[in-house]
Amino acid sequence: MKMIETDVAIVGAGGAGIRAAIAIAEADPTIRVALISKVYPMRSHTVAAEGGAAGVIKENDSLDDHFADTVSGGDWLCDQDAVELFVAEAPKELIQLEHWGCPWSREEDGSVGVRPFGGMKMERTWYAADKTGFHLLHTLFQTSLKYPSITRFDEFYSTELLAANGRCQGVMAIEMRSGRVHAFIAKSVIMATGGAGRIFPFTTNGAIKTGDGMAMAYRAGVPLKDMEFIQYHPTGLPGTGILITEAARGEGASLTNKDGYRYLQDYGLGPADPWPRKKAMELGPRDRLSQAFWHEQKKGRTAQTPHGDVVYLDLRHLGEKKIDERLPMVRDLAISYIRVDPVHDLIPVRPVVHYTMGGIDTDIDGATSLDGLFAIGECACVSINGANRLGSNSLTELLVFGARAGRGAAKLAATAPAPDMEGVQEQARAAEERVLALFRRADGGESIPGLRQEMHDTMESGAGIYRSAASLLASATKISALRRRYSGVALTDKSNVYNTDLIQALELGAMLDVAEAIVAAALERKESRGSHQRLDFEARDDDAYLKHSLAYYSETGDPEIRHRDVTITKSQPAERVYGGAGK
Ligand code: FUM
Repeated sequence: MKMIETDVAIVGAGGAGIRAAIAIAEADPTIRVALISKVYPMRSHTVAAEGGAAGVIKENDSLDDHFADTVSGGDWLCDQDAVELFVAEAPKELIQLEHWGCPWSREEDGSVGVRPFGGMKMERTWYAADKTGFHLLHTLFQTSLKYPSITRFDEFYSTELLAANGRCQGVMAIEMRSGRVHAFIAKSVIMATGGAGRIFPFTTNGAIKTGDGMAMAYRAGVPLKDMEFIQYHPTGLPGTGILITEAARGEGASLTNKDGYRYLQDYGLGPADPWPRKKAMELGPRDRLSQAFWHEQKKGRTAQTPHGDVVYLDLRHLGEKKIDERLPMVRDLAISYIRVDPVHDLIPVRPVVHYTMGGIDTDIDGATSLDGLFAIGECACVSINGANRLGSNSLTELLVFGARAGRGAAKLAATAPAPDMEGVQEQARAAEERVLALFRRADGGESIPGLRQEMHDTMESGAGIYRSAASLLASATKISALRRRYSGVALTDKSNVYNTDLIQALELGAMLDVAEAIVAAALERKESRGSHQRLDFEARDDDAYLKHSLAYYSETGDPEIRHRDVTITKSQPAERVYGGAGK
């Protein structure tokens, strides 16, 4: 085992992790930062974000409007102090990116362009064509290269946190190209590992999004907050789940059912205005659009394909010039993956798991209940997204809270006590032994793909767009059995070099733990709110459930679910209105 001493260890080198690393380097260039990532940074999932990043910039918009859209979009489960801070810091972060060279798309007059996005009643989404995540990540990555205090550890898979005397003091990671286990001893650790969409079978999420960071924090005693809220994006490509960005609808695309009817008008999302729309319709929030699909399917008004039922996204009226300028990747993806050219044809789409609203419980500085541990980006729950995130808030979220956590970790580096080397080294040896034990495990007849498939099946059938006590109980029983059976998984590949068998085994363990938290929290929430829709409790119940759920890990039993009040500052819970909304 190799020991590496640093000041701050950041796990994950996507947008959130790199933004935090830059903030630390800017605060104090003598602070040593270890940036640890299971993939090369530009392969992090931030790169897949398409449509844009929200932040108030135009004179006809206001911070109050961004706040109001975010809070109602989140069905009042957002912590409003966090949202106030988020909307205020959002424009500063986006302008900072402009200064670092992010090629934002422009208006005719040269000012930054903004486009409409779902649930936002005003155009406030900054974009770089439909490759915003790529350009944002590239800008951050290149900026990070100028700081010698940031040392990258690419293709290192982190396995567990090191904590001693109630403090987080580092993290263990396997160097994938050698198989060598490393102990990073640090004054603080920042988790920036992204979400856990791969727990579900049909997702926009890259294969790397397996909830590793959530599982590490959870096992170390930090609660996972609001895990029952899983976002389905309404427009994924059948078969692959590849995202067709909401920006398509922002630019004017329509959604029709198999009869060519714009069905959203039947679901409280407004009359079917022609573009530019005065009412929400296709620009309603994602939870409502995905639920509308479910109802259309039940009514037999979706079209059947070998890859499941679909509705159609119609971009044809936008014309080739606009599609090529604003949505080039949508055209490319549709042609490459399903041989459909949106200039001439309808794109078949269906709802697809896209985002975990819940995550590691943090405060507004990204700090967790474990001293020295921070969490940011999709793996964290601050919470600004509540029960349903609005599209384009997440890229901005990772910038705002990445920077805040970075500054917090920089402060801590100056004040935190030196790590308890003896205790930490002992723990590191035990952690290394846990990895080595995986190689020695006897074959219990279980396979990684087999268990993963069973997990996928039960999560989709039991914890999908609509859930009930019966479906969730079936999933809870199944996941707990899968967790037991997981100890019967043996590695078939015993080598050290890029042992993907080992990494997939560890990822599966993380996903099963996180899946259990999702199901347990969903069972406990006996109401319908945002993306959590219970067929047996159809109404929102603010008296009983205007609360966050906190799942605490148990190695042997079910997770324990506790609750915490939502922070309300200026917006009392009200009905979410989209049909009559719009300015
Ligand atoms: O549709 C999209 O481009 C997704 C954006 C987001 O999830 O924020």
